[in-house]
Amino acid sequence: QQKGTYTVLVSDNMSEDGLKPILESSATHVIRENIHETQVPLETIDALLIRSATTVDSEVLKKLPNLKIIGRAGVGVDNVDLNAATAHGVVVINAPDGNTISTAEHTFAMLASLVRNIPQANQSMREGRWDRKLYQGSELRGKTLGIVGFGRIGAEIAQRARAFRMNVLAFDPFLTQSRAEKNHVKAVTLDEILKESDVITVHTPLTKETKGLLNNETLKKTKKGVFILNCARGGIIDEEALYDAIVSGHVKGAGIDVFEEEPAVDHPLTKLPEVITTPHIAASTSEAQQNVAESVSQEVLDYLTGSPAPHA
Ligand code: MLT
Repeated sequence: QQKGTYTVLVSDNMSEDGLKPILESSATHVIRENIHETQVPLETIDALLIRSATTVDSEVLKKLPNLKIIGRAGVGVDNVDLNAATAHGVVVINAPDGNTISTAEHTFAMLASLVRNIPQANQSMREGRWDRKLYQGSELRGKTLGIVGFGRIGAEIAQRARAFRMNVLAFDPFLTQSRAEKNHVKAVTLDEILKESDVITVHTPLTKETKGLLNNETLKKTKKGVFILNCARGGIIDEEALYDAIVSGHVKGAGIDVFEEEPAVDHPLTKLPEVITTPHIAASTSEAQQNVAESVSQEVLDYLTGSPAPHA
């Protein structure tokens, strides 16, 4: 194969090390530019590598008549119109494993920070204050954590919660009794999660079924003083409903990494003292980024050169 037979456009920022399979292959010619800014003729592109910043809808796909495969360096494929991709004969693959640990660790870091007011206390000291009373927190030991969505990330969170001596409930329509037992969690209904949890964390993809899963109605069923976490996808929790539930004092605090619309600059939730936020960085570690870039670039290369892609 001649170098450059296949043109691969890497539209989002990705780990250099992780991209080695396609950078070093003699079969690919790699361009690392945003799809909306590149001067490369779009009709020459065979493969597109993206993270969450590039949206691929039917308008974008129409401009890419030669496109064969989209590699999403991450889990969520909600930024790709899968029906349109299928209609255009384009395969979409993701990297389902590579950022599991980073996302679980970030969620746990958010939880620990939230219940001890660490970001707020840190900010107060930066501002020259010494407010010990204001930042009294609560222990995690003995508290009930409700995990909504018990896939890879949910299971890793359960393990960390057990190390903190929390009781763990899990709701997932696909959770079997044996998997629940193996992970030492109690499989329950969504209603039970809502009623019994001191902390609720969501770890589902964003789909028609999960959009607004926590909303005005469901939040009303939660315990007064509950903490809410979303390090999965903006939109699983209705942001206005969460805002209102915090302002009313029903929800005690929230840790939010993802937003309905990103970038979420000056978002109302960032203005509430009970809320701690991060700019969609749960998977942003050098390890996770290397893992996901390596996984998609290897699979894209295999697909272009004729081997099957396991995550299609
Ligand atoms: C994912 O879906 O893998 C994460 O949200 C990380 C990302 O979007 O890059």
